[in-house]
Amino acid sequence: MAVFAIIGFGELGSSLAAGLGRSGKHEIRVYVRDRSGPGADAALATRIEQAGVRQSHYLGELAADATAILSAVPGSAAREVVRGCAPGLAPGVYYVDLTAAPVAHKREGAALVSAAGGRYVDAAVLGTVAASGFEVSIAASGPGAHGWQKLVAPEGLNVDVLDAPAGHATLLKLLRSVYTKGRDALVVEMLLAARHYGLEQRVAESIAGPGEEVPFPALAERVLSSVAIHAGRRGDELGASGDVVHEAHVEPVMARAAQEVLGRLAELGLRDAFDGKRPADAGEVLSRIEALSKRRPLSNRG
Ligand SMILES: NC(=O)c1ccc[n+]([C@@H]2O[C@H](COP(=O)([O-])OP(=O)(O)OC[C@H]3O[C@@H](n4cnc5c(N)ncnc54)[C@H](OP(=O)(O)O)[C@@H]3O)[C@@H](O)[C@H]2O)c1
Repeated sequence: MAVFAIIGFGELGSSLAAGLGRSGKHEIRVYVRDRSGPGADAALATRIEQAGVRQSHYLGELAADATAILSAVPGSAAREVVRGCAPGLAPGVYYVDLTAAPVAHKREGAALVSAAGGRYVDAAVLGTVAASGFEVSIAASGPGAHGWQKLVAPEGLNVDVLDAPAGHATLLKLLRSVYTKGRDALVVEMLLAARHYGLEQRVAESIAGPGEEVPFPALAERVLSSVAIHAGRRGDELGASGDVVHEAHVEPVMARAAQEVLGRLAELGLRDAFDGKRPADAGEVLSRIEALSKRRPLSNRG
């Protein structure tokens, strides 16, 4: 039997409590901030009762004898929570930080936990609990990652371990967010402008189709090899796109930013570097961009 001490009983914490408690083999404890008094939250108390978990208002009590402490608080509270827990950690206990705290805070947490004799896990939740529930993908790095993965895999928690120090799982999450969250902003900008012209549905449908139903690595290959030779003309087209978005009274922030990035790639001479021919190896495109940018940094052009 393992003892899982979960700090924070919001969307993630309650999903973890339910999933890790499902088999009935483990003890689940949750820490919630003391709400007794005028602001007491009856709904929370009911949820905790229904989950059948042991509740504590004291971190020290919650963590005593724990096999793993799971921090599921907002990223802004992660530092305060690890600082509160570290001095009382039992040797070998896993401290799993599942929050969206910045990389530097995760590294700092890892140092504190290691100094106290615990095993730190930087755990980055890559999807959403609302969409995937307990099966949500979690990337983990840091000294405790392998051991924690072995502990929770039999319960069905979907942990993918990176052989890397604490902070790397969070790096992975933040880097993929450039695409996943950037895409959110693109979709909104595009559809708002399309709606203005009465073309919302047509535009959305025009993007569907087999070309969009490719696994991401194949999509990335396709994007890189075509951008290598067509960045200039695509940037120009985006200039015109930005104009129609603007005329729809939507600020074309994303269209202009993408135009800028593609324009800079074209200015680097990427097309000439490939003799105007679509490269077979998409990885080579990134290498060429890196090499060309050393001569003329992408980020510093006036
Ligand atoms: N939910 C998801 O799908 C998802 C996906 C990716 C990452 N995450 C990350 O997972 C973490 C938790 O997310 P969530 O959606 O479960 O958030 P949530 O529903 O807002 O729950 C946060 C919980 O943390 C508690 N809390 C806040 N500050 C605290 C503190 N200083 N000490 C102790 N407890 C504190 C809250 O208690 P009070 O009610 O007392 O404020 C609440 O129970 C976040 O860092 C989030 O970015 C979540």
